[in-house]
Amino acid sequence: MKSLLSLVMLSVCLQQVSALHSLIPIPVKYEPTEEVFTLDARKPPEIIYREEMLKQYAYQLQDLFLKAGVAASVNRVAADPEHGCILMMLYEADHPDLGQEGYTLEVMTDSIILKANEPTGIFNGLQTLRQLFPAGFEGRNPAEAIAVPVEGCRIVDYPRFAWRGLMLDVSRHFFTVDEVKAYIDQMARYKFNIFHWHLTDDEGWRIEIKSLPKLTEVGAWRVERYGRFGSDRPYPEPGEEATYGGFYTQDQIREIVRYAALRNITIVPEIDMPGHCMAALAAYPELSTGKEKKFVNPGSKFSEWYGGGRFKMLIENTLNPADEKVYEFVDKVFTEVAELFPGNWIHMGGDECYKGYWEADSGVQQFMKEQGLKDSHELQSYFVKRVEEIISSKGKKMIGWDEILEGGLAEGAAVMSWRGMRGGIEAAGMGHEVVMAPTTFAYLDYTQGDHSVENPIYADLRLEKVYEFEPVPVGVDPGFILGGQGNLWTEAIPDLQFAFYMAYPRAFALAETLWSPAGEKEWNHFMTRTEDHFKRFDAGHINICKAVYEPKVTVRNVNQKLVCTLENPVPGTEMYYTINNTYPVIFGTKYTGPFEIPPGDLSLRTRTYRDGEPLGRELMIHRSELERRANR
Ligand code: ACM
Repeated sequence: MKSLLSLVMLSVCLQQVSALHSLIPIPVKYEPTEEVFTLDARKPPEIIYREEMLKQYAYQLQDLFLKAGVAASVNRVAADPEHGCILMMLYEADHPDLGQEGYTLEVMTDSIILKANEPTGIFNGLQTLRQLFPAGFEGRNPAEAIAVPVEGCRIVDYPRFAWRGLMLDVSRHFFTVDEVKAYIDQMARYKFNIFHWHLTDDEGWRIEIKSLPKLTEVGAWRVERYGRFGSDRPYPEPGEEATYGGFYTQDQIREIVRYAALRNITIVPEIDMPGHCMAALAAYPELSTGKEKKFVNPGSKFSEWYGGGRFKMLIENTLNPADEKVYEFVDKVFTEVAELFPGNWIHMGGDECYKGYWEADSGVQQFMKEQGLKDSHELQSYFVKRVEEIISSKGKKMIGWDEILEGGLAEGAAVMSWRGMRGGIEAAGMGHEVVMAPTTFAYLDYTQGDHSVENPIYADLRLEKVYEFEPVPVGVDPGFILGGQGNLWTEAIPDLQFAFYMAYPRAFALAETLWSPAGEKEWNHFMTRTEDHFKRFDAGHINICKAVYEPKVTVRNVNQKLVCTLENPVPGTEMYYTINNTYPVIFGTKYTGPFEIPPGDLSLRTRTYRDGEPLGRELMIHRSELERRANR
């Protein structure tokens, strides 16, 4: 019985060994060898670091092994060089191709050797090594770790872009310190190196500013509301207590900054202004033009949108750019922000600033005359330039959303292009540095799959579209493109697990675009590797969206008939459907081409299969809904 078991285990191992690697992002160079390293819980390897500054990484690897039931020892020098060891060390002579973040990794039968120019490269190499272990290694079942095979290989790897970011909005939903750390943990696994922390917005101010205590005493709290953001959440009742929210103390922020730094992640804090300031104005209403009392928005409707990006704020949420006290406020905020965050960049927001209250205010109009500002765009530009002076006086560089280009931008400021790539192209043309984070490819809050099974929000963005993202547009000098970023706004994200669901797997696609050579990107291979990472998330009990498997349903009216097309981009799959209210659909029709939906009270049901096994959810869409979609 025992030998039968070992035979089964051996064959499982061999199967794993013969599989192609599933690294995300794909490395610059991967060369398989015939060797196999075995991580054996009964004969744990020794983890050796050569330079003192690598010690923390040796312990990070030890922790990872421990979770999988392997008790590896950590030593500065090898106690027993004959014994299987994992060695991490820095190159003595600089390897220019590897840069600061690159590494080489060699997996041999006796040992694993990880080398880099800098400690950050060692950290990145460890993330690769982690992914060379089978998916089950990410689980909580130590039995998996007995004799885990690691396929022999030689890897040379370094990033394409210096800015590989993910943003998290902690205003619309407040995430605890531990939750923020968990978000950072997942980012680090995929070699993201910038955590853009959207700390303030209309729905909550989340960073302690000691010189402005009301920002968190008042601005961090709102009345608790459920339901759809921006539509059916009622305004606060008179005298109602604000009980939902929270903020990060400065000590907590320092702790998160250190936590991120240990994972090769720099934090870019965003303090959004002059718009998106309702929470700040709830604390200090005198900084608006109207100066009347405000509340922190619980997600109630307070804007109207007219298409083409035009909108009106029903309640003032803008700072008054004509008031010198506003710049004193901005200075106090950025003085403390600059002390808390050691990175080079501070993000000042600058997006979606409604100018109506400025245009209606006689004081502001007078100020514009005095300053020779001919319209409210120039006034916004005046504000942005003042903020840029304040931020650079603290020794930091300013970045803002692409609206900061309107009316002219201060030299040295960088642009984060979100309304498509247009702003980024224009900014790069003017010699500004750019981070591409366009809605069209990088908005992780957008809906990933069919609306019948998802929680629809402003727009749709499927995984395969994210994978098409190319941050350097044709004709643009790549020297100005720092990189790119995915943005996770949280209007419709009420907890951390759903944040993961929305971020992943689309963040895999971004990670690969931002790290790997453009020529290495290939959809089918990416999708196969993504399927392996589905297993890793499942094993770690981390939510991930598998909507990519589900048929993409398109309906059109053709000669008074409703014609339906199904697509899915996952290799090796087939789709089945029924249109006669029967199920399961595997007993229905295999999809081979567009088909007609007959009239009547019936639903399309469809699902994807591979080798008879269902993948993703079954979609069920009533004919009336299909008709609505066709007529849209
Ligand atoms: C944004 O999405 N308002 C930057």
